Amino acid sequence: MTELPIAPNQTRPDDVLVLGAGLAGLTVGWELAAAGCRVRILDREAPGQATSRVAAGMLAPVTEAEPDDPQQLALGRAALARWPGYAAELEAASGIVVPLRRRPTLAVARDRDEAEALERFAGIRERLGLPVERLLPSAARTLEPALAPTLRGALAVPDEQAVDPRVVVRALAVAAGDAGARIATGPGSAVEELLHDGTRVTGARTADGLELRSEAVVIAAGSWSGRVPGLPGRDRLPVRPVKGQLLVLRDPQGPGMVERVLRFGAGYLVPRDDGRYVLGATTEERGFDHATTAWAVHDLLRDGAELVPGLLELELRETLAGLRPATPDGHPAIGPSPGLAGLWWATGHYRNGVLLAPLTGTLLADRMLGRPTDEALQAIVDPARPALTPTPEDARA
Ligand code: GLY
Repeated sequence: MTELPIAPNQTRPDDVLVLGAGLAGLTVGWELAAAGCRVRILDREAPGQATSRVAAGMLAPVTEAEPDDPQQLALGRAALARWPGYAAELEAASGIVVPLRRRPTLAVARDRDEAEALERFAGIRERLGLPVERLLPSAARTLEPALAPTLRGALAVPDEQAVDPRVVVRALAVAAGDAGARIATGPGSAVEELLHDGTRVTGARTADGLELRSEAVVIAAGSWSGRVPGLPGRDRLPVRPVKGQLLVLRDPQGPGMVERVLRFGAGYLVPRDDGRYVLGATTEERGFDHATTAWAVHDLLRDGAELVPGLLELELRETLAGLRPATPDGHPAIGPSPGLAGLWWATGHYRNGVLLAPLTGTLLADRMLGRPTDEALQAIVDPARPALTPTPEDARA
């Protein structure tokens, strides 16, 4: 652990505005308020109503990482290691139980192509020294009897977990509020302009006309982060939305049909403790389009039911679309902005916003408060890294 300089143009702030009351903004707000800062969190919607509400909640650094991205893997594994302690701290601070589903992920193959892809996946993980266990289809079906008899192969990936992000949002809102953070939500709390004097932020103006003064502003607005009105061009980090559609199914008989997170092709099935199942997800480059579509419902159910035929017996409770905030290199932006003093980022978590939430709060608070920190992880998420330099187009947007 190293004590990094806060940043050349930053000082430890006592007074912080956080833009965004999703998982990133809430966890940052909780951490800073608990450390004694005066924190106000602003959002146009109630906490967690944008992407956090839609997230599946897989804590899956191995099955969700790109095979050729060791930095993403390192970040994800460090985040996973934080989760059990974080969930316990959150429970103690909020009085809300935050259950972690701790069974291994099962990555499964429905046909020969998927079986070959699974073998490549296993080989890469083994070369990285990560544990994976090859299972015969019969062994996988012993673990999960709801899997189709046509299953071609399976891998158990130990150590991965899952959590319900909606429970985490509820607990974080209570914990942040009890630590002294003020959470202001609703259309009047939408930020209409970031205020600055050309070199340093001075606060934000909200839709209801308030000019809120602060020493620091943290942008934790997910896919909307690069579009906060008033950002100077050099601070307009390139964060774009990548749409994901998913379904929430519910078993009226209660939980138990499937116990483990299942991964297949581009899809996943995540069981919740109350008999709900999240079946996802599409990956679509469609800008800020939120629509749920018939083809996505069709494709998700077709692919899911090929693997777990019993899914078709369940109630269809929700069709959802979320906008994953993606950066050009796929890593988040957590830390001081390259331009304005007093401007900080906690965004760009792409497919791993839930997994990375605890680490996001810690890494950002370490930098803002001048605490010892993990320098290697800070380098991966540095908002000033070359991959995040705004293009002339980003700067004008
Ligand atoms: N992490 C799941 C997804 O982005 O679809």
